[in-house]
Amino acid sequence: MESMGQLRRTHNCYSISEENLEKEVCLMGWVLRRRDHGGLIFVDLRDRYGITQVVFAPEVNSEAHDKAHQLRSEYVIAVRGKVRRRPQGMENPKIKTGMVEVACDELRILNKANTPPFPLDEEKEISENLRLRYRYIDLRRPQMVSNIQLRHRVCQAMRQYLNSNEFLEIETPFLTRSTPEGARDYLVPSRVNPGRFYALPQSPQLYKQILMMSGMERYYQIVRCFRDEDLRADRQPEFTQLDMELSFITEDEIMELIEGLMKYIFKNALDIDIPVPFPRLSYHEAMERYGTDRPDVRFGLELKDVTDIARGCGLKVFQTVASTGGIVKAINARGMADLSRKDLDILTEFAQKLGAKGLAWVKIKETGEWQSPIAKFFSSEERKAIEDRLHSRPGDILFFGADTPQTVYRVLGELRLELAKRRGLIQDKGFNFIWITDFPLLEFDEEEGRYTAIHHPFTAPKEDEIDLLESDPGKVRSRAYDLVLNGIEIGGGSIRIHQEHIQEKVFKALGISQDEAREKFGFLLEALSFGAPPHGGIAFGLDRLVMLMAGRESIRDVIAFPKTQKAQCLMTNAPSEVSMAQLAELYLQPGWKKESEPENVVSKE
Ligand code: AMO
Ligand code: AMP
Repeated sequence: MESMGQLRRTHNCYSISEENLEKEVCLMGWVLRRRDHGGLIFVDLRDRYGITQVVFAPEVNSEAHDKAHQLRSEYVIAVRGKVRRRPQGMENPKIKTGMVEVACDELRILNKANTPPFPLDEEKEISENLRLRYRYIDLRRPQMVSNIQLRHRVCQAMRQYLNSNEFLEIETPFLTRSTPEGARDYLVPSRVNPGRFYALPQSPQLYKQILMMSGMERYYQIVRCFRDEDLRADRQPEFTQLDMELSFITEDEIMELIEGLMKYIFKNALDIDIPVPFPRLSYHEAMERYGTDRPDVRFGLELKDVTDIARGCGLKVFQTVASTGGIVKAINARGMADLSRKDLDILTEFAQKLGAKGLAWVKIKETGEWQSPIAKFFSSEERKAIEDRLHSRPGDILFFGADTPQTVYRVLGELRLELAKRRGLIQDKGFNFIWITDFPLLEFDEEEGRYTAIHHPFTAPKEDEIDLLESDPGKVRSRAYDLVLNGIEIGGGSIRIHQEHIQEKVFKALGISQDEAREKFGFLLEALSFGAPPHGGIAFGLDRLVMLMAGRESIRDVIAFPKTQKAQCLMTNAPSEVSMAQLAELYLQPGWKKESEPENVVSKE
């Protein structure tokens, strides 16, 4: 192996072009591939920036040419030589350096490499487990470099925009108390306080509110959050938020500021113009029309309510559901009557997995007649009423869900996405933002037999609905808002409660006793009583935003060192076992262990 010695890198592997013809350059990087052509050896040299072809010719330098025989994939080398035009017919107009090559006059092998576990020069799908195990090699691939660069540009744009809007970047602790985002906490035992634990923050929610009470007025932070929850393609146990909070502010002002932020980010990171303002949809309307509070509105297939018609029909399940507080909704899958029996069986199974008892369907034949197992239960007036409500035409197929509202929303909401995916209805490659507003403040948790906060317990209720907190808590709407991009929730926030007596009312509605509130959030309640300004904020999932901007399907692709679905790091093997001595030092009992070790599974979604 050789040293770099006095060699200095003059260019990167992207910057060489015809402008450098006849100039001597020095490049350093990795051997992507080597090709021997009779007397000549070609090497594609790769660095973070790009690829440049290097040619080793005996007549240029025979020593370098001899040495080039040793080169293998991923060797780290330095080359010095003159830039020359590639011979006619040898150009590669697809890459920026494709018209030129460097004729090597001096080659230094700075390091060897074992044969990489997967090739870096092919677009072929590589097993994700292998990629995560050898993440340092995976990150060398241009796709990954470009994702990481995009993430960097997004973060820089966020900082620039917020700095120019008078925000202060402030850090908050990781070793803290449990925060109320509703997931399980990661706990850290305290050695110097035996038997006590810190919780890693699920978000800086309480600290940022305290910062407002400290008079900081505008805060942001690009910050790690920790949540011990079941993982999916868009969920990691540690993920990054752009977290913000502002004082003396209204919902509309926050939304406007965020629209400006998104516009700035997309312009600066992708050179794309995003139209603002973003449309807004109330939670109620989102649920009614799309069955979800994070609707993908790039295609139709909207849900229509037919409970009133179903109530009178002859189909027992529909009748019963409609007359016992349930709902019946339907989707018109335009032009999809060609779905086969097998397709329909698969879709029924899909619906059942989501909790449906069945999936009734009606095909509208060319004659206008109904082809359906449930056709006989509907009178001609009822059929007409359903057709009118769903605007159906021959060739359409209608799907019905009858159940509790929750189940119907979930099943038809997912069915809608599944149908769109099957038929490729999402042609629009653009970025579709939508605000969801007017969330309910609370939802009734059947299992716990009490109300829980939909957002978190510090979200302010709408001012004119505060009185309902005692009489009809489920009816109270909050001052919360979510931002949804292409059907994925990328951010959420709210105007907060800044007055102690209202916070107490909300705790009461949540069934949190005064003692419990003091125990858990005493510091916040106390701070509220020392001159807390009106305030509100929002947090964005940076990983999700960058994933969508990069056109990827998993946030793991935009995180340098992500974890698997089992919350493991395949490169470092974290989490790992620890010694008895370490446990003893933390006053922890070596304890209970599951029989089977978790497998290293990346994802089953
Ligand atoms: P919330 O819990 O909605 O709000 O989180 C804000 C955003 O963070 C992203 N996100 C995640 N991304 C990846 N992996 C996860 N496990 C994960 N969980 C959440 C989502 C989400 O929209 N403190 C409040 C914000 C506030 O009220 O200001 C909060 O954390 O994109
Ligand atoms: P059954 O009367 O149980 O044979 O059901 C008739 C049709 O209605 C079948 O296609 C079922 O899949 C469908 N079905 C049954 N229960 C429901 C329900 N709760 N919601 C929607 N469709 C249903």
